[in-house]
Amino acid sequence: MEGRKLVVANWKSNGRKLLIDNLNRAVCTDCDSINDLVLCPPAALLAYAVSAFADYAARQPFIRIGAQDCAAYETNCTGDIPCSVLAEIGVSYVIIGHSERRRIYCESNELIAAKVRAALQQRQIPIVCVGESLQEREAGRAFEVIKDQLAPLAFAFQPSQTTPAALIAYEPVWAIGAQQTPQYEEISEIHSFIHELTWAKVLYGGGVTIYNCNDILRANNISGVLVGRSSLAPDFYKMLTGS
Ligand code: PGA
Repeated sequence: MEGRKLVVANWKSNGRKLLIDNLNRAVCTDCDSINDLVLCPPAALLAYAVSAFADYAARQPFIRIGAQDCAAYETNCTGDIPCSVLAEIGVSYVIIGHSERRRIYCESNELIAAKVRAALQQRQIPIVCVGESLQEREAGRAFEVIKDQLAPLAFAFQPSQTTPAALIAYEPVWAIGAQQTPQYEEISEIHSFIHELTWAKVLYGGGVTIYNCNDILRANNISGVLVGRSSLAPDFYKMLTGS
């Protein structure tokens, strides 16, 4: 898959207004981008990030703001952020089903499907995270686990007039926050498998750095990257310029 790729910055609980300002300045100064950006700061900074990058609605690089999670339903629940509220402040992407949320908050494949549905109803683009644990990989179950994670999501990958299509981020759990990634051929193999199951564009996440990003993006079947730690570094913006 050629052309511009998508770099998704998952700041998790990190990042302050200053980091948004610094990133904005770096991107403005070096506009020679070959890739696009979805910036996902902590929820409390979403509105600030939307206004900081408002200019990019009409110019390159394509920069959009994404949430790191959303509510599954529009009903009242303390602490939940419904997709309608995210839409109102200009958030256009939502990471859903990150392995940290699957593990720490016990999010099931069905709950994740409900969140994906909620985001699509607000015309937001869900970035659905899937991936196997080390134990599952060593037991030879990676493909089966990913298939199960995608099973309740068949509705999400065909764009319609009212809803965009979801993206998938393949993030092997054992590579997240680690110093290692799978071999690039292994990533391509899993992405091909996902393409057999869905029409979705597939990003790779887990251990992406400024040093391996270009090689990963050049590998077969990879539409972009989802970046945690390295998206907080001052040179992160270079992932957009490919330098
Ligand atoms: P990492 O995290 O880039 O720090 O490995 C990726 C993620 O958690 O999405």
